Amino acid sequence: MRVRAFAKINLSLRVLGRRPDGYHELRTMFQSIALHDTLTIRRVRGPFTLTCDDSTCPGGRDNLVWRAAEKVWRAAGRRGPPRGVAIHLSKRIPMQAGLGGGSSDAAAAIRALAKTWGLRDEQRQHALAASLGADVPYFLEGGTVLGVERGDVLFPLTDRSPAWVVLVIPPFGVSTKQAFGWFDRAGDSPRLKRSSVPNDFERVVGERHPEIRRSIRALRSAGASLATLSGSGAAVFGLFSRRPEADAAAAELWAPGRRTIVTRTIDRRTCRRLAAK
Ligand code: C5P
Repeated sequence: MRVRAFAKINLSLRVLGRRPDGYHELRTMFQSIALHDTLTIRRVRGPFTLTCDDSTCPGGRDNLVWRAAEKVWRAAGRRGPPRGVAIHLSKRIPMQAGLGGGSSDAAAAIRALAKTWGLRDEQRQHALAASLGADVPYFLEGGTVLGVERGDVLFPLTDRSPAWVVLVIPPFGVSTKQAFGWFDRAGDSPRLKRSSVPNDFERVVGERHPEIRRSIRALRSAGASLATLSGSGAAVFGLFSRRPEADAAAAELWAPGRRTIVTRTIDRRTCRRLAAK
């Protein structure tokens, strides 16, 4: 069985403050994009294994896919370590980019393994996803979705009209945990409150990484209808209504060490239809 794990961008992201549990209260608009990783799932004899075609991708228990497998196995009432399945992960979504690659892989594994090991209860699947990371539940849903609280309470919206997406991936990553720390240290200043930028991380991440600011500005000058950071970065995206404009912007934004990817938004139905093909 092969399953696709689609990436996301955040069309907007507001950090509303710290919660008693140490997390942050968010209001964010998630949007699926066609860029995806692929999980190939085979039945085997013996213990569960996970391999990846990217050597920089963490293997073993450090990978959310492994932890998803352990959780589904136990929730399905089985004992001991998971067995009988081998997963190969073909990695295309850049890591530490704010595109949700690791979370999407985990959600795809939950969906596939829940079928294989007989865990039908969708609420259990959602709870299990939330226990792996705040944005994992979104990837069980897909499309245009409003996320509140930790980003795990979801309100699926009417899909927004399709757009071409230019992703600009700098040669460095940004840790989400660290970015929240930068945000807290910046304080709840009126300057931040009045901010008209669509993503509250744009300022604090941009201050540490001027290259990100420059990319956002360049995407706006190239005609993007929206250009900002995805999640807490390091990827920046621009939306374009026409493919040639997106291609031209990608060519203009490219620089040594930096990657540009042209992809498109996908709606919930497409996301679900293609997920298991
Ligand atoms: O949930 P996840 O493990 O993906 O989040 C990574 C880190 O980002 C958390 O440890 C937390 O520090 C921070 N975070 C947060 N508020 C959120 C989501 C994540 O503070 N709503």
